[in-house]
Amino acid sequence: MSLSLQLDASGDLKHFLTVEGLPYEMLVSILDTAESMTGVTVRSIKKVPLLRGKTIANLFFEPSTRTRTTFELAAKRLSADVLNIALDSAATLKGESLLDTLRNLEAMYVDMFVVRHSHSGTAHFIAQHVAPHIRVVNAGDGRHAHPTQALLDVFTIRRHKPDFGSLCVAIVGDILHSRVARSQIHALNILLTGEVRVIAPRTLLPVDVESFGVRVFYDLEDGLRDVDVVIMLRLQHERMQSGHLPSEYEYYHHYGLTRDRLQIAKPDALVMHPGPINRGVEMSSSVADSPQSVILEQVSHGIAIRMAVMSMALARTPTTP
Ligand code: CP
Repeated sequence: MSLSLQLDASGDLKHFLTVEGLPYEMLVSILDTAESMTGVTVRSIKKVPLLRGKTIANLFFEPSTRTRTTFELAAKRLSADVLNIALDSAATLKGESLLDTLRNLEAMYVDMFVVRHSHSGTAHFIAQHVAPHIRVVNAGDGRHAHPTQALLDVFTIRRHKPDFGSLCVAIVGDILHSRVARSQIHALNILLTGEVRVIAPRTLLPVDVESFGVRVFYDLEDGLRDVDVVIMLRLQHERMQSGHLPSEYEYYHHYGLTRDRLQIAKPDALVMHPGPINRGVEMSSSVADSPQSVILEQVSHGIAIRMAVMSMALARTPTTP
């Protein structure tokens, strides 16, 4: 993806479509802006006027709980007006093309589209076709990218363990179908993380996984040794085209994170998961609810990261024609 689509001529954020290729300084700037936004999220009046008068449309053509609601909350905390258009209420169901839907929303003076779609590249396609003053944020496209999820994940890690160069981070599970894993790997590598591991059965790894800049483990217990952060992933059945696994029971037996297995990692290792979690498939309840789990912190940080991205992308928009 061309960086010029994502950044303007001055290097400021224009659209946010992928973490891949993002300059280190921009990534850190988003994390630092999110840090200042966390102050807003804990005030008694959780609002700042940064995006007053702006209109943000959330276009979710795939199910979502965390991402959609935290984008909505983030926009409201920035004082923007928010339109929520979900799969079951979109006119695309009546045969309208995606671009025609967008043109209609443009005619309502929308300033930003937040887009989730099952097809990889949709947010990128939209960014290439919208009017110059409109901004696009990718809220997850196919198995390609989920950039705000990756940033809220590294934001959560940074709050607990800020020295990325000394960290070993393991991502466990369905790497093959995971847009989250791809974006996390890019973010961790941009932050010069000491070691990024992926742990999965061969059937759930892309064939070219080594080229991602990761160390590959097929055995969970081997891969967990000396790890500072364990990120568990959901089995993404909706993107599996054939049987990649004998059964969920079998998967849990070999790759489920239990209390015993967690003890192989460092004693203060963080346990993370982008959600939604499947208890008894990716991890036991005792791990999901343990003091080492920061899964709900990740959700809270999603608001601050999305406030940062939306406010930065809309900071210097040209005047609406
Ligand atoms: N992590 C994540 O994208 O969750 P949702 O599908 O609920 O948005």
